[in-house]
Amino acid sequence: MSGFPYFDYRGNELYAESVSLSQIARMFGTPCYVYSCTALTHTYQAFDAAFAGRDHLICYAVKANSNIAILNLLSRLGSGFDIVSGGELQRVIKAGGDPQKTVFSGVGKSSEEIRMALAADILCFNVESEAELIVINQIASEMDKIASVSLRINPDVDAKTHPYISTGLKENKFGIPINDAERIYTSSQELTNIHFTGMDCHIGSQLTELDPFKQASNRILSLLDRLEAKGIAVDHLDLGGGLGIRYAEETPPSIEEYVTSLCASADQCNKRILIEPGRSLVGNSGLLLTKIEYLKHTPDKNFAIVDAAMNDLMRPALYDAYHEILPVNKNQGKDEFYQIVGPICETGDFLGHDRKLSLVKGDLLAVMSAGAYGMSMSSNYNTRPRAAEVMVEGENIHLIRERETINQLIATEKILP
Ligand code: LLP
Repeated sequence: MSGFPYFDYRGNELYAESVSLSQIARMFGTPCYVYSCTALTHTYQAFDAAFAGRDHLICYAVKANSNIAILNLLSRLGSGFDIVSGGELQRVIKAGGDPQKTVFSGVGKSSEEIRMALAADILCFNVESEAELIVINQIASEMDKIASVSLRINPDVDAKTHPYISTGLKENKFGIPINDAERIYTSSQELTNIHFTGMDCHIGSQLTELDPFKQASNRILSLLDRLEAKGIAVDHLDLGGGLGIRYAEETPPSIEEYVTSLCASADQCNKRILIEPGRSLVGNSGLLLTKIEYLKHTPDKNFAIVDAAMNDLMRPALYDAYHEILPVNKNQGKDEFYQIVGPICETGDFLGHDRKLSLVKGDLLAVMSAGAYGMSMSSNYNTRPRAAEVMVEGENIHLIRERETINQLIATEKILP
């Protein structure tokens, strides 16, 4: 058993649904991201079902994995989207997603991006500062539009996660301090091209406990009560994303527990609930397939040098994140401890440390839980073309992004005349 229901062993070989990963490597080469369509579908459906009929909208956080095949699949399942750039909006539109189910988050929306989002008639801007509110009002007025707005509240709650991905503390750059929000909602009623339709918060990512979510929603709900007492009402409550997944030993709440708890917190208010899950929707629906180029044994360490690197999956280098690494073909040799490293010229270029495996040059490895913040954070460092992406659906294999070519990488560069 691999521990990953949609990526499991048949005999000694690891499969994605009904397709062997060796076959995918033969067809498309490595490194290659592989996603399970069934895993994605079932995970989305688990979120949807957990709302048990309550008015809601799931706005998938596009940044977690923005391949348009994934956006299209989620859109067909009924999903909305949380975007943070004009580029992500264009992806949603190209994928057939509905702008009317799209919210726009982020601390630094440019005027051009605001214009693009107003032209597309998105559902709502999640506004992160007073200054941004004024710019949106101005642009909406020039375009003769009314912008639907939710204020992103910074509730000052400790998400108890990696500091780089904690966003709801008062010292973080995100959102509007909760103590300023009431004044801004009230004083901004005179902005004639703004219509306040919601209130939102997002306190961080990879949360493995429910308590911080509960604290944040309680603070938001009491703010909502204070506003309603002043005659200011909104239609929806957006409780952000952030539910963690199991990479190693974590035991995050299930999707059902998480959604049920959010709904219970918001029980007394009868508003539509929005959520913005990213990682928990796609993280364990994908893996990164890589091949061992060389084995190198030194007096201190054993290295397995693979063809994927920090440019393909940045999380270990950036957050010291752990990803399970499984052999695609289990062999019967002796286990040794290996450093699984890439070809990039940095000591930080590793995918895993001290992994006990039996390896032979040419073997394939699967770096698990790589569906979220894998491909979407990849780069071309060391002039490495980005990996191919493949989606498996039962026995069917779909190439959803071709491997980049070196020519594509240098096509827009110019030598001085
Ligand atoms: N909504 C907003 C406004 C966000 O900023 C994020 C993530 C999400 C939703 C989705 O959060 P999720 O459900 O995925 O936790 N690169 C990091 C994660 C950064 C998350 C940034 N914001 C990583 O690889 O762990």
